Amino acid sequence: MNSFIGWIGGKKLLRHQILEQFPEPGAFDRYIEVFGGAAWVLFSRDKHAKMEVYNDVNGQLVNLFRVVKYHPEALQKELDWILMSREQFFDAIQEVRGLTDIQRAARFFIAIQESFGMGCSSFGVRSKNIGNAVEFLRMASDRLQSVVIENVDFERLLKTYDRTGAMFYLDPPYYEAEKYYPDRFQPEDHVRLRDALANIKGKFLLSYNDCPEIRELYKDYVIQKLDRWDNLAAKTKSRRYRELLIKNY
Ligand SMILES: C[S@@+](CC[C@H](N)C(=O)[O-])C[C@H]1O[C@@H](n2cnc3c(N)ncnc32)[C@H](O)[C@@H]1O
Repeated sequence: MNSFIGWIGGKKLLRHQILEQFPEPGAFDRYIEVFGGAAWVLFSRDKHAKMEVYNDVNGQLVNLFRVVKYHPEALQKELDWILMSREQFFDAIQEVRGLTDIQRAARFFIAIQESFGMGCSSFGVRSKNIGNAVEFLRMASDRLQSVVIENVDFERLLKTYDRTGAMFYLDPPYYEAEKYYPDRFQPEDHVRLRDALANIKGKFLLSYNDCPEIRELYKDYVIQKLDRWDNLAAKTKSRRYRELLIKNY
């Protein structure tokens, strides 16, 4: 199934190619999505393993995931009467104190759904049926019922869940794209991530942009190239991005 939101760097278009590189189902008993975002890879299977974990360091996003999991009807009710409107979008991105988790989740959902490129800062002018997206929250909630939702830095998550039988999928901010996730990932964190992965007992599959710096960091691992067409540019001048999938198995 699909995720219930789009997200900057989300793996909607690449999820099938990524899944092809997973170990055989049954070769792992816990699945952990470390840089969760919209969790496109998690949502693309009915179940990856007996235990599944979603994590992101972004508290707003994790609050939305928790509310979708535990209070889908209340969230849908809060989102009743939402229209695709510039006024509502700008209301939703205002800082307001004293909101409940459900109210915060609703405002964040609107900010993502109605912004340009999911950036949550400028209004995206297009016709979109928000009602369908709100309706879909019920299905997303069902999928999340047995998923553990965490809100910690990647290094702590790796330590907590690592063991033989663990499968980590990691989709960190790309090299030189850290600015899209301010205050959460610094350029030096690419090395911190490589070091944290160096001695894990479980398996990992890591997505990255193809650049010499990342190839050098992970030169001791299996590295595979993937091509991704830029969906906006494709219609006009067919821009192609190269991505990497790096694994320790
Ligand atoms: C490229 S996005 C992941 C997209 C996701 N795979 C999807 O399909 O939507 C990277 C995510 O990493 C999160 N992130 C950034 N720094 C982090 C950190 N130090 N620990 C955990 N998550 C982090 C960001 O908040 C962002 O949601």
